[in-house]
Amino acid sequence: MNQKKHQSITFRVATSFVLLFSLIATPQAAQASASEKAADNANPTAQQESNNKIKILDKKPKVEDIKKQNKPNRIITNINGNPQSEMGFSWYTSDKFDDSKVWVSESKNFKNAKTFDADAQKVDSKYLERDKQGNIIFKDIAKNDEGEPVKGKDGKEKVNGYYTDKHAGGPEWMSGDKHGKANLITEAEHTYKAQAKGLKPNTKYYYKVGSDKGKKSQVGQFKTAGKKGDPFNFVQYTDTQNAFWNENVRNEAAFGADTLKNAIQTAGDPSFALHTGDFIETAEVEDEWKDLYKQSRPSFMSLPVVATAGNHDEYALNEEDEKLLTKFNEHVNVPKENDAVNGGSYYSFDYNGAHMVVANTNDNKKSKDNPDEKAIGKKQMEWIKKDIKKARDNGSNWVVLNLHKPMYSKSYHALSDEDVKKIREELTKEIDELDVDLVLQGHDHVLSRTHPLEHTSTKNSFVNAKKEETKQFVGQDNVTYYDNPKGSVYVLPNTGGTKEYDSIYDRSLEHIKKVRPELSGLTEKDLEHYNSLFKLGKQPQETDAFKDSHSNNRDSSSQNFSVYEVEGNTLKVKIYQLNGDISKGEQRNVELVDEFGIQKDNK
Ligand SMILES: [Fe+2]
Repeated sequence: MNQKKHQSITFRVATSFVLLFSLIATPQAAQASASEKAADNANPTAQQESNNKIKILDKKPKVEDIKKQNKPNRIITNINGNPQSEMGFSWYTSDKFDDSKVWVSESKNFKNAKTFDADAQKVDSKYLERDKQGNIIFKDIAKNDEGEPVKGKDGKEKVNGYYTDKHAGGPEWMSGDKHGKANLITEAEHTYKAQAKGLKPNTKYYYKVGSDKGKKSQVGQFKTAGKKGDPFNFVQYTDTQNAFWNENVRNEAAFGADTLKNAIQTAGDPSFALHTGDFIETAEVEDEWKDLYKQSRPSFMSLPVVATAGNHDEYALNEEDEKLLTKFNEHVNVPKENDAVNGGSYYSFDYNGAHMVVANTNDNKKSKDNPDEKAIGKKQMEWIKKDIKKARDNGSNWVVLNLHKPMYSKSYHALSDEDVKKIREELTKEIDELDVDLVLQGHDHVLSRTHPLEHTSTKNSFVNAKKEETKQFVGQDNVTYYDNPKGSVYVLPNTGGTKEYDSIYDRSLEHIKKVRPELSGLTEKDLEHYNSLFKLGKQPQETDAFKDSHSNNRDSSSQNFSVYEVEGNTLKVKIYQLNGDISKGEQRNVELVDEFGIQKDNK
């Protein structure tokens, strides 16, 4: 559905559209009330410019039909099972192909390829209404002074007119505050899940997905895990959060895809890529998944992706609508421990003796299992404890816990999300007792890295953590290592997308309380204590967007990723930063911004 190639033609058509309709329509800015909401962050000149760009059309542009796509698309390789011998695959087609499968071979020409049948599942995908050029059609809803929609005599929202994203731009648009309402078209599609089994360890494989009767994908590749103790590395990136309204304005999927591409290149030959959640902005809008997967395809088909569910991966377009609890798992083929699918699933695997646990922090719906709506319910928490204990008993060298919602980070979510607050005491205690080495996080769109942290009682710390006074040494590689720490290091590599948050706890208490009233209980002492937990905290984007507010800033050209190198009793963490505006064709520079190691005693 991405219509980039039509852009120049579209520009001319759109320009004539604007000229024609501006003569007959009120040349007012769309969503005046939404603009007001954003006005305190916006530069007035820029705001005026962007308002002038949106002209309201009286007549709704003709809605184009959704085109079928029967060549396998939205393809991803996921770790599912034992990565020494198994691998998961997921893809989509519009129609159902009964003979769908994955072909796996050690040779590029698929000599002696093994095939593994796929299960097809019919799903309802929802696509945005678009015009002939592929531009998204928005309704400009009339709003009163309070920003509430005005309803007509028929009880329906009053529509001022229509516009498309081709007519849009400016800072408020990119912050997501300005766009109007878009309609969705339901299309039946099919998602396929296949699992390869009986593979050889430490082996590179080629694969393709599809069917004999239908079409096949291009060739992808992956490698299987080796034996315990074999060195390996992996990359982490997070919160690509591709938003549909920016598709033709500032394409976030392009930044996400580029971050992953650079992460893979920088790491060399990573064994897998970990995405810590929020792949897209709105789970219900299939266009966002399709755009992200399409642009990320060379990477998604070059290595397994370890997928963690984020809160956005279950969001409906309209906030008041039910969350979409299965969308995440429709787009990936990851395990579902306890058969629990709740906006994602939780699972774990061993990779060369390191144990990776992927939690699902979308558990927060009221149920018998979770009466207090915590980010992690009882059943999952029990599973985490048992799973890590088992891994430790089996002699895992390293334990890495992956969470979308962070326990410790430098932006507001970590301290203000109620569902996170409710698990902090229990989870940090478990992390400490179970000797988790690293906690990899997302959700807060800010660069954060703690010292090794130990659990402590609420009496000692309102966030149940204290900095461990660990011995450190500088290795021959000039990297500073924590010498056998007891505590865990919590890492959050900012974001792979364009939405960035302020490093809010570096601001004055007065400012924090003003921009995040839910943190009004914070004291100077709390703030000082919280900040003492961090070795690094920063928002790399240079902007004045956070000067007087905690705005929903969505136009960053600074993305981060991290590389984790595991070798025997040594684990090294490198956090990198990318700079350069892809939308302006700027060169992307990669820069190392933080590096540390953990050295453990021989066991
Ligand atoms: Fe999130």
